[in-house]
Amino acid sequence: MTEERETPASTTSKLAIVIMAAGKGTRLKSRRPKVLHEIGGKSLLSHVIAAAREIVPPEHIYAVVGHQADKVKAAVASTGIRFVEQTEQRGTGHAIQAAREAIAGFENILVLSGDAPLIQPETLSALWHFHQAQQAAMTLTSAEPADPTGYGRVIHPEQPDPPHRATAVMNALLDQPQKLGAPSFSQPHREKGGRPQPSTSLVHPQPSSPEVVAIIEQKMLSPEQLPLREVNMGLYAFRTAPLLANLGTLDTNNPHGELYLTDMAHVLHAAGERVVAFLAPDADQLLGANTIAEMMALDANLRMASARRLMAAGVTIFRPETCVIDADVEVGPDTVIEPFVQLLGSTRIGSDCKIRSYTVVENCSVGNDVVLLQSCVMADSTVADGARLGPFTRLRPGCEIGEEVHMGNFVEAKKAKLHKGAKAGHLAYLGDAEIGEGTNIGAGVITCNYDGVHKHKTLIGNDAFIGSDSTLVAPVEVGDRAYIGAGSCITKDVPAGSLAVARAHQVTKEGWADSRRAHAAPNTSPAIDPNNVGFKA
Ligand code: UD1
Ligand code: CA
Repeated sequence: MTEERETPASTTSKLAIVIMAAGKGTRLKSRRPKVLHEIGGKSLLSHVIAAAREIVPPEHIYAVVGHQADKVKAAVASTGIRFVEQTEQRGTGHAIQAAREAIAGFENILVLSGDAPLIQPETLSALWHFHQAQQAAMTLTSAEPADPTGYGRVIHPEQPDPPHRATAVMNALLDQPQKLGAPSFSQPHREKGGRPQPSTSLVHPQPSSPEVVAIIEQKMLSPEQLPLREVNMGLYAFRTAPLLANLGTLDTNNPHGELYLTDMAHVLHAAGERVVAFLAPDADQLLGANTIAEMMALDANLRMASARRLMAAGVTIFRPETCVIDADVEVGPDTVIEPFVQLLGSTRIGSDCKIRSYTVVENCSVGNDVVLLQSCVMADSTVADGARLGPFTRLRPGCEIGEEVHMGNFVEAKKAKLHKGAKAGHLAYLGDAEIGEGTNIGAGVITCNYDGVHKHKTLIGNDAFIGSDSTLVAPVEVGDRAYIGAGSCITKDVPAGSLAVARAHQVTKEGWADSRRAHAAPNTSPAIDPNNVGFKA
């Protein structure tokens, strides 16, 4: 917890969080706004908001929205955060300009990207404390990935200077990067720093202080700057007064013609303000997603984190890299999860359960000692202790499966309540039905719940026996201990303790088949007279 939460009265105006979420996400090639793409079962923006809410109250969080703003707002409105409209998306600097009024009343802001969903509150809190301790006007979060390509590079005072802006833009546009870093402006600084740095080297000296003079975007790097490995991760803290005083000086002299928030490092430094870098303890948390492939890498990262969390809590997960487990899923100890299982949404699973491969459980609550055999597909339902389902059991929304219920192969249920010990072993459809304790549903039983217009209920009592291949035309009730003969089509209520058979009588003609065979001509297949086959009443 931060000081912000502990003493809200004295610091309510101290810190706000701005989440930049207006961008189009051109590189995704998607019609959906980037920040509404989902990983780990939640939108990118929802993940970021969840972290931000751990630091400040929701009314101090501002999401900058623009591209399909209404859709984005509607998707996260329930979080209680505020919104700022950036009608035209002219860059990250422009996004913060759009938030001018919103942030003016706060002493400091943290700026987050809506497309970096793995961020954890501890990191935000660490950045906030570092920013205050450094008394900086701007603190950017940096990291040193093995491959820095594509990121803005952090320039410290002893490192190659930012190239002259106009030259940089010209060269980037002409795609002649070799012209960028003329020795005339990088050489003297290297001598000053006393650390000669050959331009071919891939290692740069560790910054002696966190002080930063500029951030240079990939496309504007000089050859000397290309090897720099410390990159800007897109997470910042600003003191609002110097930010607002200088925000207007950003320009669009860059290959994208955008207003870059990253240029504030240079602008503030030039204005005599302190700009520092906070080297992130866990850079993986700050990874952003600009393409679908990057997003899927983050998804794998997030699901793996969920699997690790469960394993640390005593859950056995075989081949966890094949399982898809959402962030909010809970599983009790000693439950065993086989490869290729998906546990989604708000699913809760008890202890000592076995979940076999290819089972997909979404928003379900499952008790203890439950076995879900292979390929069960279950949504929005509850399953009580000791139940055994599958393989290929389908629970559609609204099912309540009681203790020790057994549901087997290809049994589909929807809004069905099965009481303790009920059994439906094979190939059944149970829709809008209630099935009493200990009742046995035979193979192929169907509750006919839909008359083409309305849905109707089937009620079956305790310890009843529904013979195989029976159809129960709802609305209909079958009493306790009643017995339905196989193949019946039940259209009327069946009282407790009685037998109901509703099918045509069997006709048996002894010797018929043999005599027909004997009369058939040799070497020809038996002719079938359609009038002489079948039943006569
Ligand atoms: C940005 C940084 C780069 C850093 C990288 C880290 C800039 C210019 N560059 O690049 O130094 O290494 O993040 O991931 O900031 N957005 C708006 N309005 C706009 C444009 C963008 O709200 O007009 C939002 C986007 O929706 C996104 C965030 O700002 O959530 C970042 O924008 P993006 O275009 O993804 O920046 P990067 O190219 O990743
Ligand atoms: Ca990005």
